[in-house]
Amino acid sequence: MKSKIYLLLIVLLGFSACQKNVQPSTAALDQRVDSLLRLMTLEEKIGQLNLPSAGAFTTGEAESSDIARKIEEGKVGGLFNIKGVAAIREMQQIAVEKSRLKIPLIFGMDVIHGYESVFPIPLGLSCSFDRELIEHTARIAAGEASADGINWTFSPMVDLSRDPRWGRISEGSGEDTYLGSEIAKAMVRGYQGNDLAANNTILSCVKHYALYGASEAGRDYNTVDMSRHRMYNEYLPPYKAAVEAGVGSIMASFNEIDGIPATANKWLLTEVLRNQWGFDGFVVSDYTGVSEMIAHGIGDIQTVSAKAVDAGLDMDMVSEGFLTTLAKSVQERKLTEQQIDAACRRVLKAKFMLGLFEDPYRYCNADRAKAEVFTAANRAEARKAATQSFVLLKNENNILPMKKAGTIALIGPLADAKENMTGTWSVAARFKESISVREGLEKAVGNSAKVLYAKGSNLTEDEILEANSTLFGKSLNRDKRPAAEIRNEALRVAQNADVIIAAVGEAAEMSGEAASRSDITIPETQRELLQALLKTGKPVVVVLFTGRPLALAWEQENVPAILNVWFGGSEAGDAIADVLFGDVNPSGKLSTTFPQNVGQVPIYHAHKNTGRPLRGPWFQKFQSNYLDVSNEPLYPFGFGLSYTTFTYGEIQLSKTEMTASDSITVSVEVTNTGNRDGAEVIQLYIRDVVGSVTRPVKELKDFTKVMFKAGGKKTISFTVNVEDLSFYNSDLKWVAEPGEFVVMVGTNSRDVKEASFELK
Ligand code: BGC
Repeated sequence: MKSKIYLLLIVLLGFSACQKNVQPSTAALDQRVDSLLRLMTLEEKIGQLNLPSAGAFTTGEAESSDIARKIEEGKVGGLFNIKGVAAIREMQQIAVEKSRLKIPLIFGMDVIHGYESVFPIPLGLSCSFDRELIEHTARIAAGEASADGINWTFSPMVDLSRDPRWGRISEGSGEDTYLGSEIAKAMVRGYQGNDLAANNTILSCVKHYALYGASEAGRDYNTVDMSRHRMYNEYLPPYKAAVEAGVGSIMASFNEIDGIPATANKWLLTEVLRNQWGFDGFVVSDYTGVSEMIAHGIGDIQTVSAKAVDAGLDMDMVSEGFLTTLAKSVQERKLTEQQIDAACRRVLKAKFMLGLFEDPYRYCNADRAKAEVFTAANRAEARKAATQSFVLLKNENNILPMKKAGTIALIGPLADAKENMTGTWSVAARFKESISVREGLEKAVGNSAKVLYAKGSNLTEDEILEANSTLFGKSLNRDKRPAAEIRNEALRVAQNADVIIAAVGEAAEMSGEAASRSDITIPETQRELLQALLKTGKPVVVVLFTGRPLALAWEQENVPAILNVWFGGSEAGDAIADVLFGDVNPSGKLSTTFPQNVGQVPIYHAHKNTGRPLRGPWFQKFQSNYLDVSNEPLYPFGFGLSYTTFTYGEIQLSKTEMTASDSITVSVEVTNTGNRDGAEVIQLYIRDVVGSVTRPVKELKDFTKVMFKAGGKKTISFTVNVEDLSFYNSDLKWVAEPGEFVVMVGTNSRDVKEASFELK
């Protein structure tokens, strides 16, 4: 009987094993999905909406598990948290050989910034301001993941965040709407390519829809409350950009929006996402996002599950609320079977598009896995990408780059910390094979210099904080000796050196999920180590590890050179050596403002002017400012130094008036005034001077990264058109309003040249 149904299915669906990489037309696809749906029982349809976590199976255990039984019973649509061709093949086999309708599973994973070859954390990568590079990293990640059995990634994370207390700021692209949107598109293109059924592309899932990065006080999973005006103009565009780039799936966020959790928010999941944006992929909840609505206080598991489906959620990650209650809700007429059909249709469609019905093992090729994962070529690309993510924050008297000569003291809790190099959300990484700073430096200098190492301090004196910041096998091997003893040992090492490199900052798991901080400084014991190192009188270079903007006022004041390396990925140590020794000239620019202190948060460049802006020097009574700190950030958005210097000429406009149907060319001559080749990220900002609603003091509208020879100059041009001048007005209509606009071009959001023009 079973095999008869399968035969019928094959005929009905008209698929053929040799039809490789052919995307059927939408109509043909819909027909196939509908034919399959007609064969399915209500329970089987609901089964497709269930996404359990596989846990960390090793092959062999899988078959006897509870999940295996559920797959056989048609109660599972896909799995995640499962790694490797053998384990994945085993599960797929159960689905396509033992379940009644033999529908293949989809296999997801958090491939966030690379697979085994790990790229910098997304916040770092965004500082490259390089669309092609970012797309390329996503393409490599897709290539490795798909070779190892994965066909769906929970990435990109495009949650705009202006709150460095929030640990997950590390997983996104920072504070800016335009930059975030450009990166969202690049990543979707990179993962999905132009043929989802190709065996080296994977389905992308943009997350966390929506506004997750605006949780109150930067505390993870906290409440969000935001005006529609701000949502439309600032926070929603990156998700929309991903949809426009063709992303196949989207993940609902944990937070509430207008008092209704995103997971069951019909306005968000249906009105905005499907009706306004035309999204036709499927929506998955976040991990236990459905059952968490019980704690949110909007009903029991049956109620919240029905609400989620009614709102437009298609797949339930982990909660099993759909599996256990949706049939009952249909029987009780709380939902219609058509609603279940709609959700199931979307999930099945994705599986068809991935080519899984043609070949459920398309992504399970052990030979490919061996040949294409963690390859020397991919690791070389990861090393290059890492160099592009680093941001040089300070370089007094050109201490950097260093010479490969003499004696270098490498000191700090992050100096010899392989497991921490990849940063947060690197679930497929081979931590033990990452390149530490120590290894990177030693390799780079060879016999030409001596590298001496000492730890110098623990991450923090607080043992519990350290334990919670070094989870998931990322221990920093706590030294049990008193802080002074660890420090003195390092000082003895430093005495013999010509220069000190201090690898300090955060551990990898001090940012990421459920890793919010209320204090965003470098832990005290490391600050004390720095103070002691500075007292030696030797030049000190800080190599800063962090997953968020930190408050570095003291370091900026006291340390001569600071290279922010975020978490650079599996090849971080080599990349750090490349930049410290000047084999690569740093060109990263901050994608998030660094505050002077945590009290300034949220602080971002595209702020409003207010009715009482500070004009002239701080402090002024009855103007918008603080008594105890100026309004200036420590490092503005877009900031980052180079080993060379650039000067900008005055802005030339092709005309000073434009209409909605034409455009203006904005040109600037940029000169590399130093004696090294270097890349510069040239940034274009616009201010709408008078509007029907208040407009930000500046908004990033374009950027380009250009390589300049030492002494070379180039004229850089941008085209400004009406889209760049448009915004959502108070009726949430996308409009451009006639009047004056100021255009700014510069090396960061603070240091800009200005000109103005009029939109007629
Ligand atoms: C995170 C998501 C992630 C999911 C699956 C959740 O805890 O919020 O970003 O994709 O787990 O691992």
